[in-house]
Amino acid sequence: MTVRFVLGLQWGDEGKGKVTDYLSDWAEVVVRTQGGANAGHTVIIEDKKYVLHLLPSGIIRPNVKCLITHGVVVDPKQLIDEIEEMRGHGVEISDRNLFLSERAHVVMPYHKLLDGAREEMDSKKGSQIGTTKRGIGPCYADKAQRIGIRVGDLYQENLRQKLEPLVAEKSAMLRYFGIGEEISVDRICDDIAEQREVIRPFVCDTYSMIREAVDSGKKILVEGAQGSLLDIDFGTYPYVTSSNCSSGGLITGSGIAPTELSSVTGVVKAYTTRVGSGPFPSEMDQATGERVRNVGKEFGATTGRPRRCGWLDVVALRYTINLSGVTDIALMKLDVLSGLETIRIAVGYKLGGKSIQTPPACTKDFEKLEVEYLDLPGWTENISGARTMNDLPENARRYVETISDLAGIPFTSVSVGPGRAQTIRLED
Ligand code: GDP
Ligand code: IMO
Ligand code: MG
Repeated sequence: MTVRFVLGLQWGDEGKGKVTDYLSDWAEVVVRTQGGANAGHTVIIEDKKYVLHLLPSGIIRPNVKCLITHGVVVDPKQLIDEIEEMRGHGVEISDRNLFLSERAHVVMPYHKLLDGAREEMDSKKGSQIGTTKRGIGPCYADKAQRIGIRVGDLYQENLRQKLEPLVAEKSAMLRYFGIGEEISVDRICDDIAEQREVIRPFVCDTYSMIREAVDSGKKILVEGAQGSLLDIDFGTYPYVTSSNCSSGGLITGSGIAPTELSSVTGVVKAYTTRVGSGPFPSEMDQATGERVRNVGKEFGATTGRPRRCGWLDVVALRYTINLSGVTDIALMKLDVLSGLETIRIAVGYKLGGKSIQTPPACTKDFEKLEVEYLDLPGWTENISGARTMNDLPENARRYVETISDLAGIPFTSVSVGPGRAQTIRLED
């Protein structure tokens, strides 16, 4: 096995950071290919907690080469702050282990202002998406509009000429949103002049590196950000992010051809969470949701917002498994369900009295959706010390086997705590 994708199959925060970290033991190259600093991937090693937003989670392992490709939208200030923070934790980062694509689009200050301004305006109408306000949508919009600034452009003499009309346009948009804050070309250029020197050692052609790595049989792990139900095409649009977070996005974002892929590991929480607005068919009642949120510490790694909690939804799961050609599943946070009398699994959707196999396309249809549940008995034991399936209480084992059967693909690991060692490994 040489090329492995790891991606979230729900609405993000499934535990991709932990899975990427333990698979980085195997990997020689770890690649981020989409999203930006909206991601928050947590890795816990002994007592230390690392939260990665732009840096691939493999950065913590010495000797792993970490790539941020053309598909990622990069806020240079955030990247610099994150590098500094990681160095503060004793992680070595240099031009030997970090590589940033010259084709990656740059998140500019006006992108973040516009992201916040639109959210503010929409919140008055109750229609806000609940974005992370990291400028992700406006930056990808400029990429699609072909007016984006890429990392390589930061070093060109005509940067200021490119920025002047852009800043004028964005200022007019901000005025429309009622934001008085002035954006100045001088200020942006001054900041860039400093930032580009700090990141210069990392800037390169990451595509050529990936090609060489694939051709020479290196072990490559592509770390997805967000989750398939936040995918701009296949997710619960418009309550989604602005990139493709399923396999397709990892393919275009890496340049690795579909035929070169060895496996796709889907990361799945033993229940479901989502941050921000949007449909959530299997959302728990308030009391149960609050309990799971507190036990599972379900607060955003990027924004600190409380995550909404729901039951595992296998209709949505089958959809995202098929979408990405998932070959195996890493099941996360099983320990959080300990102590619940009954554990529910969403097993069917009905719309207008008819069974449907995929989530509806329109938000309005979610309001009419009937969800069918399978109820299983819970367990009371603390399972965070379990290292084999036999260490689990019978009802926990039955829950895992039931969802594996319903999902139709094997589980390669079951996670029972945030630490590296708190994993039941089922592969090999
Ligand atoms: P990501 O965005 O998919 O990387 O996930 P996040 O880091 O945003 O959120 C997952 C959270 O769950 C983090 O705080 C992890 O430390 C934590 N976590 C991961 N696996 C487990 C587990 O099996 N049990 C518990 N209790 N926490 C876990
Ligand atoms: P990781 O990689 C969970 C959500 C936001 C919002 C929507 C759009 O940590 O799993 P955006 O800022 O992307 O325009 O926000 O997407 N969102 C995430 N939710 N985990 C993430 O990343 C997310 N990245 C974006 O909450 O609902
Ligand atoms: Mg996260």
